[in-house]
Amino acid sequence: MTTIYTLSLLAAICCIKACSSSCPVLECWFVQEKTGRGGLSGATSQETSLLHIRTDGHTAETRPAPSDSDRVYFITDPAATLCHRSLSASRGSLQKPECEINRFLPQPSALKWVAPLTDSASSPIYLQADWFSTTLQGVNRQLAISAVTRAPTASKEHHVVLSVTSKTVSVQSRLGEPVSLDCGFWADPSSPLAGSGFAVEWRYQFRGAGRLVLAYDGKADRLADVQEEGATLDFEGLHQKGNASLILPEAKVHHSGMYICTVYLAYLVAQVAMELEVVEPPSLSIHPSTLPLTVPGRTLTVQCEASGFAPLSLELSWEFKGTDGKSRPLGSGSVTGHRQAWDGTYGQSTQLELDTTKLDLGRGGEVACVAVHLGGTRRASVTLNVIGFSSPSIEDSMAMVGVALVLYGLIKFVSWTFTSSGSDEAGQQDKKDK
Ligand SMILES: *[C@@H]1O[C@H](CO)[C@@H](O)[C@H](O)[C@H]1NC(C)=O
Repeated sequence: MTTIYTLSLLAAICCIKACSSSCPVLECWFVQEKTGRGGLSGATSQETSLLHIRTDGHTAETRPAPSDSDRVYFITDPAATLCHRSLSASRGSLQKPECEINRFLPQPSALKWVAPLTDSASSPIYLQADWFSTTLQGVNRQLAISAVTRAPTASKEHHVVLSVTSKTVSVQSRLGEPVSLDCGFWADPSSPLAGSGFAVEWRYQFRGAGRLVLAYDGKADRLADVQEEGATLDFEGLHQKGNASLILPEAKVHHSGMYICTVYLAYLVAQVAMELEVVEPPSLSIHPSTLPLTVPGRTLTVQCEASGFAPLSLELSWEFKGTDGKSRPLGSGSVTGHRQAWDGTYGQSTQLELDTTKLDLGRGGEVACVAVHLGGTRRASVTLNVIGFSSPSIEDSMAMVGVALVLYGLIKFVSWTFTSSGSDEAGQQDKKDK
């Protein structure tokens, strides 16, 4: 028993070692403004850099000697945020994680819900160091990370002080469903900046226009501002696990857009962006819901109405499925412009002129309206019956002959009954007279 226990303990330790050493070496673009005359050019320079990530501060491991041409940094990330598997480029894959590193300037914020974090006027000596901000995007848009790191001046040994992560970089939701936009943060508890608390801000952006969704003042532990009705945070998770996820109780069309989760510590800020798309497929209805019997040469008008869908893009078309089971397209009909309902969803309709001779619809079949939308394809159909078409089939001719025969027989029978009963009466009259 003891041996098994020891062995499993050893295995566990090995795993921990292996796991911690599985943190990737990240290839990053080091981007900085070109130092030049006036500094107004706004031009930037890009250099490749390598970030060696580890989860503990011990420097026992062998490391490659930094070459002069490359920027090489050693980053200690106790929360192992930067060790996510989506950040290691798999061999042979075209998809690569994206990484950018910039210099960062710690400074106090004037925002109402952030300013209390930096109450004292003098900034701590701790800030006098090299500060970098690193933004990462995992493969397949699985993950977005932003981390602020600190190194003693001119050293390459960085420590993560604040990291913000989102695992929902791109989210789709049906209308009316609850939505949770993931945002988590980690602040190094040993940093003097972590002691004064944090603040969280969610902003919304759509086509260049931005607005505040919600602001949380961590020092006072209260929502400082809520601009989106119903939007909230999980306050327990926020303090216990750094879970700053935004909760929208009911997805609405106007919620589609870009969301930015920003976490502040005193003098520091990091943010991640994610996209929410509210997708709702259309409901279809056909008018009239039953088509009248029609004869060749007559034209029928059928209308198909798609409603309640978002986003706007929709493809409407018509299809005919004959009694032989074969489908063929009837085109898109005349499609109207879209209109928007009170809840932000869209509506659009199409009208089809069904010319029963021109279209060669035979004896009829199913007329279907097809709507192709991001949220799925929807169909609705009505039955079309064409009678008295130009070339009657053998069965019909037989039936007609049959009907004629029966009619003929009936007439014959009736007239025979009449004449015979007439002669009978006449006969009886004869007898009485005798
Ligand atoms: C964070 O909070 C959201 C909303 O309550 C929840 O859906 C999510 O599972 C939480 N994430 C973690 C990692 O606990």
